[in-house]
Amino acid sequence: MDHLITTETLIVDQVAPDIHVITLAANLIRRGQLVAFPTETVYGLGANAWDAVAVQRIFAAKGRPGSNPLIVHVADPVQLLNVVREWPETAERLAARFWPGPLTLVLPKSSTIPDVVTAGGPTVAVRCPNHPVARALLTSAAVPIAAPSANRSMELSPTRAEHVLRSLGGRIPLILDGGSCPGGIESTVVDLTGERVRLLRPGLISIAMLQEIIGSIEVGQQGDGPARSPGQMVRHYSPRTVMRLVPTDSLARACRDAGGAGLQVGMIRFSNPHASTVSSEPTFARFIHLSCDPGLAATRLYDALHELDQSQLDLILVEIPPEGPEWTAIQDRLARAASQAP
Ligand code: TXA
Ligand code: MG
Repeated sequence: MDHLITTETLIVDQVAPDIHVITLAANLIRRGQLVAFPTETVYGLGANAWDAVAVQRIFAAKGRPGSNPLIVHVADPVQLLNVVREWPETAERLAARFWPGPLTLVLPKSSTIPDVVTAGGPTVAVRCPNHPVARALLTSAAVPIAAPSANRSMELSPTRAEHVLRSLGGRIPLILDGGSCPGGIESTVVDLTGERVRLLRPGLISIAMLQEIIGSIEVGQQGDGPARSPGQMVRHYSPRTVMRLVPTDSLARACRDAGGAGLQVGMIRFSNPHASTVSSEPTFARFIHLSCDPGLAATRLYDALHELDQSQLDLILVEIPPEGPEWTAIQDRLARAASQAP
């Protein structure tokens, strides 16, 4: 995209969004334009899912490969009707428990969904968000909204309006600023089109929570054939600054080594920094203690990475998070952020 456009940011109350602001945004969506908006996970970049030209604008603004399909957001069962072709009992049970909320279901797509949304594939990812701004926008636009995270391709997902502006300013007309996103990392993606239910992306809805409703679940991509979730490239969600994952007991040495080499170092920790001497060493320029609680750590993770990425550092050291299934989504995002692979 060569021509920069003016990006307007409108503040909107995240509990009781102003109907005038929502109507303006909904009208833009209905006219085929893009609107960035907050959800309970991260900010999304939305377009009318029925409008192939509008959806194409998402790919252009993000620099996203056309092979990476989008999630379609719906407000209610009525909007769902012409998005999916089948609604199996498993979908009903999962939706009854977790919708509205941070769970995305992959299902056979309705023929009325344009191919550009699903990267030409026969399945569509669908989710019903519970953020009041997202819900108000969907209801007012009265169309399903295709929306990936509102960042340029491969970059960190945004959890605040200013993250969106930094990444997509000049490329989109409107950002609804509803403050920071409460969840902080992207939705859990579950594939319901195979013989067995399969987790494609860990997220705020944990495997244990899914298993409670549907019993066993396969984890990860199938071994052969084309990628079922093509967006799951190894490198993804990355800061621009070099980032390294370090075990807790090696943090002090990694810090000293980098400091000794004259590098400006930032550090993120999960465990209590007072439990060791690292935090008192003056060898790093910025230090952020996230939380030993996985939910709180998820809420703050991208915000911390954005902040360090803006701090003119040479290196970001991140403590490897604790073991355990409740940390799976954070482990997944950190491994991708630290990866140098394409
Ligand atoms: O929390 C979220 O899910 C946020 C908010 C805005 O809703 N959206 C988001 O979208 O994270 P995006 O585009 O950044 O990630 C969508 C993921 C990608 O990994 C993509 O490959 C996968 O969902 N996906 C989309 N459609 C799919 C399909 N038909 N089959 C398998 N995976 C699909
Ligand atoms: Mg994304």
